[in-house]
Amino acid sequence: KIPIIIDTDPGIDDAMMLTFAFANNHALDIRLVTTSSGNISQGKSNHNARVFLSYIGANVEVARGLESPFLRELELAEDIHGENGFGNVQFLTPPLPVSHRPAVTAMLETILNSNEKITIAATGPLTNVAALLVAHPEVKPKIERITWMGGAAVGGNVTPTAEFNAFVDPHAVQIVFNSGIPVVMSGLDVTHKAYITKEEIKKLQEFGTEFTQKLHQMVTFYLDQIEKTPFHAENYDQVVHFHDVVPLMYLLQPHLFEGTDHYVEVELEGKAVGATVVDYYNRTKKEPNVHVLHNVEREKFVEEFMKAVENISER
Ligand code: BDR
Ligand code: CA
Repeated sequence: KIPIIIDTDPGIDDAMMLTFAFANNHALDIRLVTTSSGNISQGKSNHNARVFLSYIGANVEVARGLESPFLRELELAEDIHGENGFGNVQFLTPPLPVSHRPAVTAMLETILNSNEKITIAATGPLTNVAALLVAHPEVKPKIERITWMGGAAVGGNVTPTAEFNAFVDPHAVQIVFNSGIPVVMSGLDVTHKAYITKEEIKKLQEFGTEFTQKLHQMVTFYLDQIEKTPFHAENYDQVVHFHDVVPLMYLLQPHLFEGTDHYVEVELEGKAVGATVVDYYNRTKKEPNVHVLHNVEREKFVEEFMKAVENISER
């Protein structure tokens, strides 16, 4: 089993990621979930993680993360994920309790108390992870790697050059990229290929459980919101990107992905703030610090995701 901490800002695709992760808890030893501020404020992000995990029957510590990025004002994505972060779909189970430990402390203690190295999977802005590394650099040798959804070698979904999670807290990205810990970047280059079609989404309805109905409603909301952007409508008509599932799927099924190692830096200010600059041609002559994913076997990705949904529905 891979011992892992998940840092997330649920978020519709974050909820899909949690579904996938907990369906695979025979292979993942999920020690802790921490919440980042991003798609929605910390209050909603933490509540959503606790209520969703309780709904799917997961039992795990959920710790509250930092309220805002290192230096920049917090930017939200409520236009895409709805005011409640879940496309306004409600989960009425009593949420898991909030941990008495703040996220950074919970991460620190989880890592230091572990006999094995811990993997961190992050699917929101990297604020909590970077704060941990700055405040407690002694954890670095005990982190196996950080697999993150964020960044993009080409293009952006907030500005022409910045992906959302990188844009929200670029200083945190810089800290993580320069940490010396192996980093896997699941940026838009790969996540735009990890999509589910409207036809495939219908399968969620066919499962016929209350859980899959709710997932279906969430995904449909997400699709309707992103379809409003002209680029999306033109290039990705009728499909939804399951960005946040990618870093978790990569851990369990790395053979479905293609990636290469590069030196990557992030822009901290100016028009291109949040751009992750990938030195594909080794112009800087610097050692690679990031494994950049650029391709996925989409159909197998969808198959694995659907298996996870079925697994949770049957529990
Ligand atoms: C990322 O931004 C968020 O809105 C999603 O949850 C995902 O983590 C995609 O750019
Ligand atoms: Ca996210």
